[in-house]
Amino acid sequence: MSEKIQSIPIAKPWMGEAEAEAASRAIMSGWVTQGPEVAAFEQEFATYVGANHACAVSNCTTALHLALLAVGVQPGDEVITVSHSYIATANSIRYCGAIPVFVDIEPQTYNINPMLIEDALSDRTRAILIVHQIGMPCNLKAILDIAHRHGLPVVEDAACAIGSEILWNGQWEKIGKPHGDIACFSFHPRKVISTGDGGMLTTNNPQWDKQFRLWRQHGMSVPDTVRHGAKQVIFESYPMLGYNYRMTDIQAAVGREQLKRLPEIVERRRYLAQRYQEKLQDVPGLKLPTEPSWAKSNWQSFCVRLTERYDQLQAMQRMLDAGIATRRGIMCVHRESAYQTEAWSCGVEPKACECQVGKCDRLSESEQAQDHTVLLPLFHQMTEQEQDYVVEVLKVACQVKEVTFYLP
Ligand SMILES: Cc1ncc(COP(=O)(O)O)c(C=O)c1O
Repeated sequence: MSEKIQSIPIAKPWMGEAEAEAASRAIMSGWVTQGPEVAAFEQEFATYVGANHACAVSNCTTALHLALLAVGVQPGDEVITVSHSYIATANSIRYCGAIPVFVDIEPQTYNINPMLIEDALSDRTRAILIVHQIGMPCNLKAILDIAHRHGLPVVEDAACAIGSEILWNGQWEKIGKPHGDIACFSFHPRKVISTGDGGMLTTNNPQWDKQFRLWRQHGMSVPDTVRHGAKQVIFESYPMLGYNYRMTDIQAAVGREQLKRLPEIVERRRYLAQRYQEKLQDVPGLKLPTEPSWAKSNWQSFCVRLTERYDQLQAMQRMLDAGIATRRGIMCVHRESAYQTEAWSCGVEPKACECQVGKCDRLSESEQAQDHTVLLPLFHQMTEQEQDYVVEVLKVACQVKEVTFYLP
């Protein structure tokens, strides 16, 4: 069985003729950026997640930037977030001139540990930016409870969480409704649905939605769609500093087709994730992901943890040698050279903190998760035969012991 499998990627977008035709439709229409396809995609996306407003932008990083600006983050402010995320999360805080204050994660869900948030608050805290990491919903109830007590807005980095759900007052609701103030999504090809690149902001606040639309197009007072349809000449103005964070109509047309596939994609990913759980449950040296009873992940990634006796790099190399692509668990931003200690904080007063570049005792769960977890291949088109092969190879690979030297 195994010999027939050449190579298995970590992820693969599920796209086909429908997306190709949609891109062609946008191109042939003569309107290729931020026009009718973007407007339709926004409407359909808002309906899917149950939000009042959805605003499309160029990617999730730009969405996060606008979300933080909207909730009032300014230079010198602090924003509570996690180090254990893709670097774009913390970068978006720095784009506002603010300081990311990193809070450690829960080892089971890899999401922010709500019990540590209050300790990290200061009189400079302006917002909380949480991440539904690799599609697993955060403990939103606990986080919102803290945020409301301290009068802080909550932005959800839902880059990976399209299709994920949370049990809310007895009903399953989509991440992005939003439950916090604003949620931000990514359509990068590693995500569950893709537009090549792309992002979306959802909110129930009409003022913020209006603001996003101005900011994403250079702060221009009149959108192109309005000028184009006008019977009288309109001169636009630029009352504020804006950005070019537009999504193209070609991307949006593709996104509309992807949205139609989304329920089927999520169902398949849940099936494959469950299959991984069953096939890997008794493997010694391996810890499997856990899903709280109030959460349903979209399984954007399936993350396994090697117990400390086993070597992450060697296990991954063994899998690569067998033609299977894996990825190290999520990065820790505070370990990167772009994050010298002055660029972030772990919530301890600077004088009391003994953090060094790349090392922080208060972020030990984040560091351990990065060092001991491995993301396995998981994508819609993955066959059961391919998955069995991953399981077979992983069972051997994860038993590579770390080299230990014993002194006589
Ligand atoms: C948690 C998280 N936030 C933000 C981003 C940035 O998304 P984008 O590439 O669409 O800017 C990513 C992308 O991988 C991510 O995983």
